[in-house]
Amino acid sequence: MKFSLRNFVVRLIALAKGIFFFIRPGAYLGFLAAPLIFIGNSLKLSKWITEQRRKGTGFDDFFQLRRHYDKRFTLHKYVIETQAIKAEKIDYLEFGVAGGTSLRWWLKENTNPDSRFFGFDTFEGLPEDWGMFKKGEMGPGSLLFEDERCRLVKGLFQETVPHFMGSAVFDSTTRKVLHLDADLFSSTLFVLMSFASILKAGDVLIFDEFCVPNHEFLAFDIFTRIHGVHYEFLGAVNNYLQVAVKIVD
Ligand SMILES: C[S@@+](CC[C@H](N)C(=O)[O-])C[C@H]1O[C@@H](n2cnc3c(N)ncnc32)[C@H](O)[C@@H]1O
Repeated sequence: MKFSLRNFVVRLIALAKGIFFFIRPGAYLGFLAAPLIFIGNSLKLSKWITEQRRKGTGFDDFFQLRRHYDKRFTLHKYVIETQAIKAEKIDYLEFGVAGGTSLRWWLKENTNPDSRFFGFDTFEGLPEDWGMFKKGEMGPGSLLFEDERCRLVKGLFQETVPHFMGSAVFDSTTRKVLHLDADLFSSTLFVLMSFASILKAGDVLIFDEFCVPNHEFLAFDIFTRIHGVHYEFLGAVNNYLQVAVKIVD
């Protein structure tokens, strides 16, 4: 049989993997998994930020010594102005409504009477721990929006979104604005994957906690890789805590 360097390397790697699992490093070094994953995702996020900055397009306030949470609306406003969304008929879908601050802001900003606004939330707080925030935190109780364009969908996204997607009708000429403000990796990934098949060029994704390596960023990274999503960077504020992108195909 002819010697092939490629086959030799493949066999060597297989043997090394076999030995690795045989000696069970996870049994005594398992505690390193979480910090190593965090470091890996932080490096990926840093690379992503560097790539956007190199392009030199979009709104970007990097670098700021202090974050100002309300500055997220500077980014939202920039998106509305540059994409001419103010008077446009849109479908705005917010995932993570809590007390309704951003949903109310969008209801005021978009003046088209035919726009639709959907706010998804458990309204009972986070379904899982998120960093220092514990399961159940951020729960505002019941909310009322005196705008007939707005509908709230109460419950866990994993339960409400499939049902919603089964009954909602989306007009392909109406731009969708997805505001992803659920903080958690699982929630964000679930929503992105659920909408993957109906997102089209021109739709906008806005993230509220993007610069968190193991959560919204990771969900976005996985989603774009799985679905081969192409997007244009629209902008970021608060050192990439809030990020907006537009789907290009
Ligand atoms: C940061 S708050 C939203 C803040 C709000 N957009 C604002 O501007 O004030 C995050 C919300 O996401 C909701 N959330 C996270 N994961 C969820 C899920 N899987 N299903 C339903 N709600 C979820 C939590 O209940 C929480 O109210």
